[in-house]
Amino acid sequence: MEEKLSFEYAPAPESRALVTIKPKYGHFIGGKFVAGSKHFPTINPATEEVLSQISLAGKADVDAAVKAARKAYTTTWSKMSGKERGKYLFRIARIMQERSREFAVLETLDNGKPIRESRDVDVPLAAAHFFYHAGWADKLEYAGLGTTPKAHGVAGQIIPWNFPLLMLAWKVAPALAAGNTVVLKPAETTSLTALLFAEVCHQAELPAGVVNIVTGDGSTGALIVNHPGIDKIAFTGSTEVGKIIARAVATTNKSVTLELGGKAANIIFEDAAIDESVEGIVNGIFFNQGHVCCAGSRLILQESIADEVIEKLKNRMAKIRVGDPMDKNTDLGAINSKEQLLKIRELTAAGDSEGAERWSAPCDLPGKGFWFAPTIFTGVTQAHRIAREEIFGPVLSVLTFRTPQEAIDKANNTPFGLSAGIWSEKGSKVLWASQQLRAGVIWANTFNKFDPTSPFGGYKESGWGREGGRHGLSAYLKGVSHE
Ligand code: NAI
Ligand code: MG
Repeated sequence: MEEKLSFEYAPAPESRALVTIKPKYGHFIGGKFVAGSKHFPTINPATEEVLSQISLAGKADVDAAVKAARKAYTTTWSKMSGKERGKYLFRIARIMQERSREFAVLETLDNGKPIRESRDVDVPLAAAHFFYHAGWADKLEYAGLGTTPKAHGVAGQIIPWNFPLLMLAWKVAPALAAGNTVVLKPAETTSLTALLFAEVCHQAELPAGVVNIVTGDGSTGALIVNHPGIDKIAFTGSTEVGKIIARAVATTNKSVTLELGGKAANIIFEDAAIDESVEGIVNGIFFNQGHVCCAGSRLILQESIADEVIEKLKNRMAKIRVGDPMDKNTDLGAINSKEQLLKIRELTAAGDSEGAERWSAPCDLPGKGFWFAPTIFTGVTQAHRIAREEIFGPVLSVLTFRTPQEAIDKANNTPFGLSAGIWSEKGSKVLWASQQLRAGVIWANTFNKFDPTSPFGGYKESGWGREGGRHGLSAYLKGVSHE
């Protein structure tokens, strides 16, 4: 007799009581929280519950933040030794670790990502960025970036909603290590962890005005980009806004780094270890609901193994646990916003109408909140929108190839060039392919691995400059080419 084995996991929710969310937040300017005049709600995308009211910064708020940053730069931060600056960075890193559960819970509530990811990926990596850059603060002269490295002054930083705290760390840590002061704006749907970070700056007794956080939407972002008191702009987000920013700073003296979209190819050669590849494909596209600029969103499969890989992939996808992001067993959480869900629906509908074949993992999606089941499209051609445009959701487009050169040609046939993956047991093939691929980050027999010491950034429409490592540090120093 055949017995069907099925497992049910008992719910294992993380405690929400770990965080205190205020009903309303202001901006963090000159070391103090100051009330905003206009507000907008921030919601939990898994339940649509309003979590808090966030301030919308206008011209006066951005002016005040830039002024505070300039004052801190001139009177304090630019006069301090690198060794002293480093101590503050170490202190911030340690407080982030001490308060890591708070950060993880807040990130999950505001963003919709599974607590397992915010706890094990976002928060530890954010702290690691501060530790890493703390080590650089007193060694800038030895970084090979010139004998008298100088900071830009005030950095304006605009970040997205997919890794709210981690993108803050990628921006703030190198800026401070290099001796700049900061005006940072989080994304409008995910401001809460940046506001908790402001509390950490206060707790670390960071001199007033070194870090200023103003909240708001694209209008606030534009005020930062166009402010004459800012010396350097760092942006992560859509290619569309990246182009607007590039145009806005082109006629100014502002230095700029842009980290934009992607449409990464994950290439599986016939000699790859199939089961490991399947895990890598799943991690490449379903990690963080596919809200990842370097997500492996185009699976490029050698024809001889395509059927086997797709069957195994569907079996594995059917086991992805979708649901309550606060549950420690959850693999795939909520889509961050209604707008993003509508974008995913629109692009996948184009996949259907252009003739690709859709398969979604069978799962019960919660009634409230914004959800999308893990989905793959087979029969995709290079002309399809789902093969060309960034979907930024848990959706994989599958293309096939016969010869290695065809795989490379398909992988490079995109306006983007942020990342790529190669799966093969043959080292020579991996090296050959990695030299042919036009992508800033290339993973071999793994995917979506990050480390503060490793530069990250793209070719073509994926952006300008690098973040992380010595390359990322150079973007916060005057006159150093960051390519
Ligand atoms: P977005 O580029 O509009 O937002 C990113 C940040 O830029 C936010 O803080 C936003 O307030 C700010 N912003 C918006 N307009 C601005 C302007 N004119 N000047 C200055 N700052 C501005 O991205 P959005 O609308 O949230 O997402 C749209 C698409 O962009 C996504 O579907 C995805 O494909 C892509 N995206 C890529 C990201 C990446 O990590 N490379 C991150 C987020 C989105
Ligand atoms: Mg936008």
